This record gives sequence, structure tokens and C-alpha cells, in this order.
Amino acid sequence: MSKKEVCANQVRDKVGSQEDSSDVSLQSSQLTEGIQADGTVIIGEPLDSCTDENPEKITATFEGMSVEVDATSGQTILDSLLAAGQNPPYSCMSGVCTACMAKLESGCIQQLEPGSLCEENFNEQELLTCQAVPLSKRVKVRFISEN
Ligand code: FES
Repeated sequence: MSKKEVCANQVRDKVGSQEDSSDVSLQSSQLTEGIQADGTVIIGEPLDSCTDENPEKITATFEGMSVEVDATSGQTILDSLLAAGQNPPYSCMSGVCTACMAKLESGCIQQLEPGSLCEENFNEQELLTCQAVPLSKRVKVRFISEN
């Protein structure tokens, strides 16, 4: 099994253990912060403020520049950047290659699929922009290739 498969399974196993429990409140406190019962992962600080469903702006840093684009509810960060004519790093668009990985600098996001990310990535506020939608009015990300 590849490291990427191990990472994705690690998150799915957490979700599975929650679904098996009859005491959801107890299980919730045992989960890595932000992992949801439906397999999505929410990251941002503070986590309990990540409830805004009307995102407005995304700021992204890549290739030595920062751009600000409009955000649309339910649209991934990568799709918003591409719709605005930007060309950030990406390849597969399905959460596998990690070319679109970025670090969340401010705001909140919901990772729709863990893809190739490990629990450690989420704890470091790292996300895949092709699988992440904004959950706050403003989201700021820095593509990992810029570090
Ligand atoms: S583009 Fe491949 S993981 Fe996002």
C-alpha cells in the first residue's frame, strides 16, 4: 500500500470508528479535530467559527505572487482560481497528485475528500485546493511549492 493510500485510509478509519459508536458525543471528542462523520475535514482557527456558507474572496499565493479572486459557495478553491483566469499548480484535480497542496493562512475550509492527505497534514493546516471549499467569507492560502 502506498503512503498516499495509508494517509487516506487513516482518515477514513477515524470516520468508520465514529460511525460504529453508539455514543457519538464521546467519539467526537476522540476524533482528530475537524474530521466530520461524513468523511469531510474542516480546518481553520478557531474551528468553531467555521460556519459561514457565503464565501466572498480567496487570496492565494503561488509562483511569487498573491492574487485575490471571487469565491463561490460549494466551488473548490482551485476551481475559483481557474475560473478567474489564474494558473496555480495542479494536475489530477482528484486529490491524488498533491500538486495543488496549500497551507491555510487564514479563514476556514472544508476538505471534501481527504485524498492523499494524512491527519498530520490537517493538523498543520494543509489542504488540497482541488478538494477544498471555503467556509468563511475570506480564505487565504499559500501553495506548498512557495514555501
Ligand atoms: S490537483 Fe492533484 S491533488 Fe489536487
